[in-house]
Amino acid sequence: MAQATFHFPKGFLWGTATASHQVEGNNTNNNWHYWEQEGHIIEGHSCGLACDWWGGRWREDFDRAAEAGHNTHRLSIEWSRVQPAADRWNEDALEYYRQMLRGLKERGMTPMVTLHHFSDPLWLMHFGGWEYEKVVTYFEAYVRKVVDALGDYVNLWCTINEPNVYATIGYIFGEFPPGKQDMGAAFKVMENLVRGHAAAYHAIHELQPEARVGMAVNYRGMLPARQWMPADRWIAGLLSRLYNDFFPRAASEGVLQFIGRRQRVPEAKGTQDFLGINYYTRELVAFNLFAASELFSKRYYEPGSEISPTGFIANQPEGFYQALKWGLQYHVPIFVTENGVEDPEDAMRRRYLIQHIHQLWRGVNFNWPIEGYYHWSLVDNFEWERGWTQRFGLWELDTETQARRKRPSADLYAAICKQNALSSEMVAQFAPKLSEILFPG
Ligand code: FCB
Repeated sequence: MAQATFHFPKGFLWGTATASHQVEGNNTNNNWHYWEQEGHIIEGHSCGLACDWWGGRWREDFDRAAEAGHNTHRLSIEWSRVQPAADRWNEDALEYYRQMLRGLKERGMTPMVTLHHFSDPLWLMHFGGWEYEKVVTYFEAYVRKVVDALGDYVNLWCTINEPNVYATIGYIFGEFPPGKQDMGAAFKVMENLVRGHAAAYHAIHELQPEARVGMAVNYRGMLPARQWMPADRWIAGLLSRLYNDFFPRAASEGVLQFIGRRQRVPEAKGTQDFLGINYYTRELVAFNLFAASELFSKRYYEPGSEISPTGFIANQPEGFYQALKWGLQYHVPIFVTENGVEDPEDAMRRRYLIQHIHQLWRGVNFNWPIEGYYHWSLVDNFEWERGWTQRFGLWELDTETQARRKRPSADLYAAICKQNALSSEMVAQFAPKLSEILFPG
């Protein structure tokens, strides 16, 4: 095995990402709590205290992150806490977020703040959620309130997390609240998410001209299952454009493009200072005329790929490289706003992490404008409709006792963050089977 070190540029941001509903706990005022009460979470799981950040355990988790050499953290603000009713603000909640953000700064971590990460206030859902015409006005007012209160601590803002997942899973596949399977509603929601993003972008810049604002899209690699089959190539290309490109294109060109529809949204043009890419996996797509409800496709993982314990993620690091390359077309700096794997035993995560950081390094070495990487996630947290069955944390969480236990990947990631590099020694220590592959000779 050759000895080598893959260095990253000075000032590269290394951290983890979390989302309010998944870590804070004890919130009964949003659509996800409602969804849970309706019995939609796997095995009847409940979010409960989550990681108890609202009870103060963010302090110990931020200590963990800081000691592990992280120099940034991405967290989200819970709209339903800041605005518990349509006509009411909760100043205490904002003060609490100020404490958290100060907590990051004091530990030397740059905050990236997401303003919307899947969860919506119940009152908004009663009005019709993101289908409701006035949602954009409400969202903008909430964003102004937050930026006004927290702007002293933040200048990296992510408006909306994975609008493509929110619209697809909530309004086409029906697995997220509100559980609809309605293309018309999905399109309305997509349009309003774009308008909401644009309104937030302009509001943030008005309040804080130096801010950097973007959104985080979920990029899913999609390859034709059978290269030789035109129908597979067509459906893979179509779904990829729809799923991966719809939002960043809207924010770059001010145009919505959706199966034969084209609509101008001029206020959205040029509304991304950076592109956030959440990458987890890549799949094969085969055309299937009889699978209308699955958008005329059957999708599956490449045979022989390494699959995560619940079958959720295939380890496809090449797909990560492709995702970063894809991001270049938008001509803005890139942050990897999420990447990780669910793996309670930490058997696959070490390899996954090393192989993905290696691809990240390849991109960085082509001088692609990649500025940071956020691993999903710091501590095991509440994985939406999959409840506690998926464990994405560098630290394991015992939901009964709130005890945390470090997984080996936390040490591996700490070494990467502290050295701002991936070295052959790290690979030899944490995933020796990869040594000959990454460092031949
Ligand atoms: C992403 C979400 C994040 C988390 C990871 C596993 O789609 O943004 O909240 O659930 O998946």
